[in-house]
Amino acid sequence: MKKIAVIGGDGTGPEVVREALKVLKEVSGLEDFKYQSESFDFGGERYISTGEIINEAEIERLRSFDAILLGAVGHPKVAPGVLEKGLLLRLRFSLDQYINLRPVKLYPGVDCPLKDKGPKDVDFVIVRENTEGLYTGAGGFTYKGTDREVATQLMVNTRAGVERCLRYAFELCRKRNDKKMLTLVAKTNVLTFAHDLWWRTFNEVAEDYPDIKTDYNHVDACCMWMVKNPEYYDTIVTTNMFGDIITDLGAMIQGGMGLAAGGNINPEGVSMFEPIGGSAPKYTDKGAINPLAAICAMAMMLRTIGLESAGDKVEQAVMKVTPQLKSMSAGQMGYSTSQVGELVCQALRKN
Ligand code: IPM
Ligand code: MN
Repeated sequence: MKKIAVIGGDGTGPEVVREALKVLKEVSGLEDFKYQSESFDFGGERYISTGEIINEAEIERLRSFDAILLGAVGHPKVAPGVLEKGLLLRLRFSLDQYINLRPVKLYPGVDCPLKDKGPKDVDFVIVRENTEGLYTGAGGFTYKGTDREVATQLMVNTRAGVERCLRYAFELCRKRNDKKMLTLVAKTNVLTFAHDLWWRTFNEVAEDYPDIKTDYNHVDACCMWMVKNPEYYDTIVTTNMFGDIITDLGAMIQGGMGLAAGGNINPEGVSMFEPIGGSAPKYTDKGAINPLAAICAMAMMLRTIGLESAGDKVEQAVMKVTPQLKSMSAGQMGYSTSQVGELVCQALRKN
């Protein structure tokens, strides 16, 4: 019996999660596995009415689940950063989800903004470090509000944190396909301390993976190549901040936020899966948002908790549905949110 914690969250989060759960129910019948889900009300509404985001005891409870499925975090009536840091980053850090895994895959029938590129050209994965870098909250103000004000935001890179992320990326690259090329994306020409640590560790760990070809891009060049020659990439490994940025670029070349899924993974603990598009408040409850990213996040969740064939089936069903939609964008799919969920269920049943 798998136990799934469900956090619908803000804006369109609950709607897309509802569709993911519909597909989960369908595939559990077909693949004959049992699960239980329990919903949690963390998010903007609860924060506004109670002043609390999430407490220690609740985080402890989440540890008893096999995985967490998250809709979206971000509420127009809550100041930017409060929920992002108080819920999303808090969960990533407390549950030590040190990998943020973001596949960049162009599905059939999806418009790619890159000229003359198709599904065979856009199929790589980004492994983003998820617990360190510029995200730890280290730093602060001195002389705040005066004309001598100093603001620092420290980039934290530990040998252990860098190494575990790199090892995960090498292992993933080994399993993925025959390309077996791992590209480290950093900025060693400027961040000569922090990224020197990444560079040295990368080369040391590489000795344990003689079958993997190692490769390096500066992050600015990577942005250029992702647009010009996406077919070049297989597996990319990068830091937290750079990974945040290049995965949005990746989402666009795979056809938009409607399809981009991510996993916050603790390979030894509880992982959390989410569509990466955010809460899109203006579309809330309009039945307009694309649920495929959440459904793909759920497929990733299944694969991570040992239900690989169920996860694969869901992804194959999504690939049958993408050619049927007019567009991947909210309000332009030619179907409502729940109809798209239903199409995926139908595609599953036909398999
Ligand atoms: C993401 C988001 C988050 C991040 C924000 C909401 C804190 O942009 O998951 O990519 O920067 O990691
Ligand atoms: Mn982001």
